Amino acid sequence: MKKLLAAFVFAALPALALASGGHEVHLDKVDIDLTDKAALQDGARTFANYCMGCHSAKFQRYERVATDLGIPEALMMENLVFTGAKIGDHMKIGMQPNDAKVWFGAAPPDLTLVARVRGTDWLYTYLRSFYEDSKRPWGVNNTVFPNVGMPNVLVGLQGRQVVGCKQVQSVEDGKKQYDPLTGAPITHEACDQLTIVPKSGTQTEAEFDETVHNLVTFLAYSANPVKLESQRVGTYVLLYLAFFFVFAYLLKREYWKDVH
Ligand code: HEC
Repeated sequence: MKKLLAAFVFAALPALALASGGHEVHLDKVDIDLTDKAALQDGARTFANYCMGCHSAKFQRYERVATDLGIPEALMMENLVFTGAKIGDHMKIGMQPNDAKVWFGAAPPDLTLVARVRGTDWLYTYLRSFYEDSKRPWGVNNTVFPNVGMPNVLVGLQGRQVVGCKQVQSVEDGKKQYDPLTGAPITHEACDQLTIVPKSGTQTEAEFDETVHNLVTFLAYSANPVKLESQRVGTYVLLYLAFFFVFAYLLKREYWKDVH
């Protein structure tokens, strides 16, 4: 019964998260491949360097991450463990939730399971949607998380994002519009668009999308580290059932042989 309840609560979480979001926002879609080791390693590095100053992943151990992602222990200790922790420790942080609440207005939540709660599309969009807003304490706001308490920690990579005017392709009834004569996209000026101030970050837009894609891949893995394993086990279970069926059938035939 407890399990059933837990399953129900987990199933309802995304809906609750959406409900608390209030208005509907457009989310960019992201394809996550949990078997992509290079993406996972890059994401883990970004997480340790840019996120663990404030966020823990306390249900996860460094050692497990190193093993799952194929990172040698020495490399792991050198590049991903900064808190004086040991390889067998959980990925905790030093910041106290009470202090954090005073500094940011909200305590940075643990991120181990955030991909399950928010979904990967939400995370991918959120991390790319900080924009400058002088009315906010950190000078930034976020299109999918209005009045967010988190500063834009990736601004050095992404560059300064502002809301401005941009030529965008016109869409009617969900269809992108093209000029029937030239085939060129029909555009119009929209002034609620996020744009990056050119050359204000160290990465291009495509590179930054990739960085965030890899980071979200890591968060998706972190929320469900047994997913790969359960898929593998599932295959064996099905094979076993198929195999077992043959014998069950033969046995049934044997039993019923004399009845007719
Ligand atoms: C300087 C501290 C700080 C750093 C560094 C930081 N965050 Fe945050 N983050 C916060 C705070 C504070 C909040 C809570 C915001 C709120 O509730 O208004 C937050 C909220 C979030 C949320 C929303 C959680 C939810 O479901 O409500 C996500 C996701 C997140 N951070 C991801 C990240 C990632 C990924 C990184 C690394 C790239 C990162 N953060 C780095 C302070 C930080």
